[in-house]
Amino acid sequence: MGPEAPRVLVATDDAGWHGRRLDTALLGRGFAPFTASLRDCRIDLTRPSGLVIPGFDTLPHAVFVRGISGGSLEQITLRLDVLHALQALGVPVFNHGRAIEKSVDKAMTSLLLHRAGIPTPPTWACESRAQAQAVVDAETATGHGLVVKPLFGSQGIGVQRVAERQLPAPESLRHAYYLQRFIDTSEAGWHDYRVFVIGREVVAAMIRRGSDWISNVAQGARCEAVAAEGELARLAADAAAALDMDYAGVDLIRGADGQLMVVEVNGIPAWRGLQSVCGFDVAQRLVDRLLPEAA
Ligand SMILES: Nc1ncnc2c1ncn2[C@@H]1O[C@H](COP(=O)(O)OP(=O)(O)O)[C@@H](O)[C@H]1O
Ligand SMILES: [Mg+2]
Repeated sequence: MGPEAPRVLVATDDAGWHGRRLDTALLGRGFAPFTASLRDCRIDLTRPSGLVIPGFDTLPHAVFVRGISGGSLEQITLRLDVLHALQALGVPVFNHGRAIEKSVDKAMTSLLLHRAGIPTPPTWACESRAQAQAVVDAETATGHGLVVKPLFGSQGIGVQRVAERQLPAPESLRHAYYLQRFIDTSEAGWHDYRVFVIGREVVAAMIRRGSDWISNVAQGARCEAVAAEGELARLAADAAAALDMDYAGVDLIRGADGQLMVVEVNGIPAWRGLQSVCGFDVAQRLVDRLLPEAA
């Protein structure tokens, strides 16, 4: 790394394993990684850029967003403002702020998948508890189960089945009901698929086998590589494109009729599980595909 190495911001509160992998991959290609939290970045109109990024006298060469921690609507808005401003200043941001906004919001993800004609389970989102209860009753009457998810959730946290037609307490969902038809995969052993997409290219896929129906790696699912091809690859690439992702981790599930459906598009995907079953360095691939000019 020379004295003029282009400096890349890795935006996260907790560098952790992913931060270290990205740092190594960036260093390996002559970039100088620097980790800072978006909550420590600030807006300052006495600066030419209007921004202060800790550790940077000038603008970063590029930004990898590895985490946006929770906070008030105002705090999150400020953190996204920084991402939008960097992009407007010509700094490549992976993923860019709009893509992160869309994918963090499960209802918007569902709408965009639907609009793009990508199969996804029937989904409802509303504020009214009475409306949500009407969906539960109608679905139950036709023999379907339902899952309810936090609108901004991740890692399977808070994802739950609606049992006995009983919705969780309104406060526990922050008064936003995101309901989705339950897809039962138990016959073949609980599982779903995670496909990793960089740009428009599907680079790896795995099956995640859980001991229960929630098959996030963070919930203890086992990972097995599967061929990233066919319908699995096509739907994942289409889903990443529908949300305008630079890279994405796409979750898919197969219905009893064999139809693959996209359940989630992650704009800040973890890849530790995938790394354990795929034959290349995911962080290096990200750096090489997204930051080719200095490679
Ligand atoms: N409609 C569904 N039917 C059955 N299982 C589901 C459904 N939606 C999600 N799951 C299971 O729950 C996990 C977490 O759901 P997901 O929508 O990916 O949210 P998160 O952001 O928490 O990962 C999925 O990986 C899958 O195993
Ligand atoms: Mg998921």
